[in-house]
Amino acid sequence: MEMITDLFQTKSMLPDEYRHLSREEMEQRVHDIKRSLGTKLFIPGHHYQKDEVIQFADVTGDSLQLAQIAAANREAEHIVFCGVHFMAETADMLTNEEQKVYLPDMRAGCSMADMANIYQTEEAWAELQAIFGDTIIPLTYVNSTAAIKAFTGHYGGACVTSSNAKQMVKWALTQKERLLFLPDQHLGRNTAYDLGVPLEQMAVWNPIKNELEYKGNLSEVKVILWKGHCSVHEGFTVENVRHIRETKPHMNIIVHPECSREVVAASDDSGSTKYIIDVIQNAPAGSSWAIGTEMNLVKRIIAEHPDKEIISLNPNMCPCMTMNRIDLPHLLWALDMIVQGEGGNIIKVEEQTAIEARLSLQRMLDRA
Ligand code: 13P
Ligand code: SF4
Repeated sequence: MEMITDLFQTKSMLPDEYRHLSREEMEQRVHDIKRSLGTKLFIPGHHYQKDEVIQFADVTGDSLQLAQIAAANREAEHIVFCGVHFMAETADMLTNEEQKVYLPDMRAGCSMADMANIYQTEEAWAELQAIFGDTIIPLTYVNSTAAIKAFTGHYGGACVTSSNAKQMVKWALTQKERLLFLPDQHLGRNTAYDLGVPLEQMAVWNPIKNELEYKGNLSEVKVILWKGHCSVHEGFTVENVRHIRETKPHMNIIVHPECSREVVAASDDSGSTKYIIDVIQNAPAGSSWAIGTEMNLVKRIIAEHPDKEIISLNPNMCPCMTMNRIDLPHLLWALDMIVQGEGGNIIKVEEQTAIEARLSLQRMLDRA
């Protein structure tokens, strides 16, 4: 819903002129604008961004690091966020009133975040309260709208990222008897499983059918997983793992916890984007890795580690389509609008929503 509002607020789509510029010209112009704006401009870039964009990032990181960095930056007037919509919303909510956050392409959403809207969530909450009473704490992956973060904050819950999910789930289970985990069933299931919650104690909330999927004694449910997923990470399969085991048995397989439980269980290791980067960084020269995460990042890891044998776990994997919407022409366009004082592509979360969403972000940042 917020995406639609933002689209209408956007001045227009990328003007045609940007499609005809050479790469060299665009790079030169971005360099020049960065130099002239100095520290008034700050460009954070998520690890899944393309190289043509990442080369201009002042800082790169995973979603937790970028949220922490946004919260700490009090200097920049213009924060041009190279990532997806929910990350720019988070940056807006954690920065000052005077600081403006821009998303170079307003269509850069996250299909997982779109799998839980606030109306579905409120309906689900009412049903779950009727079933379980006041025994549930909500947790939301940061890959969610500001409205869902506000909902979570309102009911005493918090945000999580893939880097701190274990800490946050552990904390949540000290607060209430059970938790509702939005919107990624896989991160929720993998994290709770690693913490010792048996799969039999996990139910799934189906927001399309508006019903709880669970066979068993309801009093035993500890974790309720929202039936959402990342279409990129769901693209890694047990068949991919089996193929690597058969054809390259010497390879270590490491995957992101947005992959299914079956894929995580069949792999050698799993962890957040930052965890994967660190593991490969610290691995000995000559070691071999099949990685199950976003393709722009896997390609970059391969380029940065010529001393190691690295491949994607799925040879047919594509980059995240929405992350990829941020490209050099859109970055230059966003910067040009700042220089010309046009105020386009600004991400601004409505204050009433931001107040409660900040509660849920802050509870995470306090424990991250
Ligand atoms: P990280 O929390 O690992 O940065 O992941 C964000 C994301 O969108 C993963 O698909
Ligand atoms: Fe969303 Fe998946 Fe893309 Fe991450 S990789 S931004 S979860 S669609």
